[in-house]
Amino acid sequence: MKRIVIILVAVFSLSVFLTSCGGGGNTGDQSATTVTAKGPYADLPADIQAMMPKGEQIYKSKCTVCHQATGAGVENVFPPLASSDYLLADKARAVAQTLNGSKLEMTVNNKKYTQEMVPQVETKEDAVAIINYVLNNFGNKGGYVTMEQVKDVVIKPRTAPAAK
Ligand code: HEC
Repeated sequence: MKRIVIILVAVFSLSVFLTSCGGGGNTGDQSATTVTAKGPYADLPADIQAMMPKGEQIYKSKCTVCHQATGAGVENVFPPLASSDYLLADKARAVAQTLNGSKLEMTVNNKKYTQEMVPQVETKEDAVAIINYVLNNFGNKGGYVTMEQVKDVVIKPRTAPAAK
């Protein structure tokens, strides 16, 4: 009898544990407020503001796994996009890296990064939308980048996965 009570207590506490962990997702639903004139992007040109929902959506689906939901990255592995001196120094370069990937030794906020990032998006429009989103989130007030400013960025042919 004692054993049954112990099992019941164990099952009960397990279920309390599981339910208390559930639903802890992102509670900050800001999607409805992103493109209003008074919103966080009010200082930006209208065409840049209009890209933000797309940039946000791609960021959340493709970038958070490495650069994190906060843009903080992972020290010495995935560089930060939040307050990144490297990113803010050259916006067109950031667009090019998002499009074509990057395999450099780079120093971001005094830390070295050597891992490769593979190409992330297929079109310049997508890359520009994400970088504008990044430039204006995670505490960044980085201005914006236009399609005109990246007209010389060439989309490199994707290399086929190496056959081993
Ligand atoms: C699989 C992990 C991974 C994913 C996913 C990823 N990145 Fe990166 N990213 C990296 C790594 C690693 C570097 C450093 C590359 C190097 O050293 O050349 C980097 C560098 C960068 C840089 C330049 C460095 C900086 O901090 O400013 C930018 C900009 C960037 N990524 C943007 C993005 C965007 C935008 C996305 C989503 C569309 C994305 N990345 C998705 C791993 C990733």
